[in-house]
Amino acid sequence: MSAIKNVTLVGGAGRLGTFVLDKLIASNKFNVQVVKRAGSSSTYAAGIKVVEADFGNLESLKAAFQGQDAVASIVGDAGVIGQKLMVDAAVAAGVKRFLPSNFGSNMANPNSRKLPVFAQKVIVEDYLIEKSKTTELTYTFVYVGGFIDFALQKKVIMDFSKYTPAIFNGGDSQFSTTSMPTVGDAVVGVLTHPTETQNRPVYVSEIIISQSQLLSVAKQIAPSKPWAPVPVDLEVLVVSAKERLAHGQHDLPTVIPILLKSIVDPEFGVKFVENDNELLGIKLKTEEYLVELITPLIN
Ligand SMILES: NC(=O)c1ccc[n+]([C@@H]2O[C@H](COP(=O)([O-])OP(=O)(O)OC[C@H]3O[C@@H](n4cnc5c(N)ncnc54)[C@H](OP(=O)(O)O)[C@@H]3O)[C@@H](O)[C@H]2O)c1
Repeated sequence: MSAIKNVTLVGGAGRLGTFVLDKLIASNKFNVQVVKRAGSSSTYAAGIKVVEADFGNLESLKAAFQGQDAVASIVGDAGVIGQKLMVDAAVAAGVKRFLPSNFGSNMANPNSRKLPVFAQKVIVEDYLIEKSKTTELTYTFVYVGGFIDFALQKKVIMDFSKYTPAIFNGGDSQFSTTSMPTVGDAVVGVLTHPTETQNRPVYVSEIIISQSQLLSVAKQIAPSKPWAPVPVDLEVLVVSAKERLAHGQHDLPTVIPILLKSIVDPEFGVKFVENDNELLGIKLKTEEYLVELITPLIN
């Protein structure tokens, strides 16, 4: 496949999108434009080419994608299903590669694909696979595990603040994680290796951790604190979360235990031993990075 030069980023001002945009620009390898929803209040630095489009209108999206080699979508969860129309627009505009907004759990794992929180992402993946068979559009799915920086700062993987972190299922499951800036490196890596990454998932694993390891790092940082970890059966949380979800409740406390399961539970293919780090130029983080992240989170 020929080189990718013109790259469109959708959702480039979001939580993850900001990091991806920075890395795309810093790589100096691409002509980058961002496409945002008409009327969106997203703002970008001067010098970034910003195009507005009606995300519910094929012609509007097609015009925005005209002349682009690749579209990387980093839309938030509310925008996931809308990516089907983006795929149609990418096909119509002759775009060569589409990266849908995945950037998390291993969705090639059959258990992950059945989780209700991923239903729309699965629909978009399946749609891309279908289109790649009948059109010139190709895809790459980027799986990175949990965002280690975000998940610790937001107390999702572990909450150190009261020295009583919940430890799920013994805490020894090892799982892959990646920081948000490094997800940006991974996107650059995919776009600079279009042939090797064509029509497949890529796996990024910047640091493999377990909750037990995180707790041990926290204890090394603050040995005199009254650490009293609380054993929790994650499955119990997930069963009740799924019940609430089935009754139409979609708030964060409902969704998080299910997402967490897909990130830490070995049944969900969470340790990316075989990965694409080398191909994508991903450097591994060490325990020092965990110390850096965890230190400010302990009072
Ligand atoms: N692995 C992890 O731990 C982890 C953690 C968090 C997120 N993620 C994943 O990372 C990806 C990006 O998430 P994020 O949290 O960075 O997203 P976000 O900040 O919530 O949103 C990103 C952008 O999406 C666009 N957007 C919002 N609502 C939309 C809608 N209804 N239709 C179309 N576009 C919409 C907006 O862009 P404009 O206003 O410019 O149009 C917004 O700035 C998602 O796939 C998410 O699941 C993974």
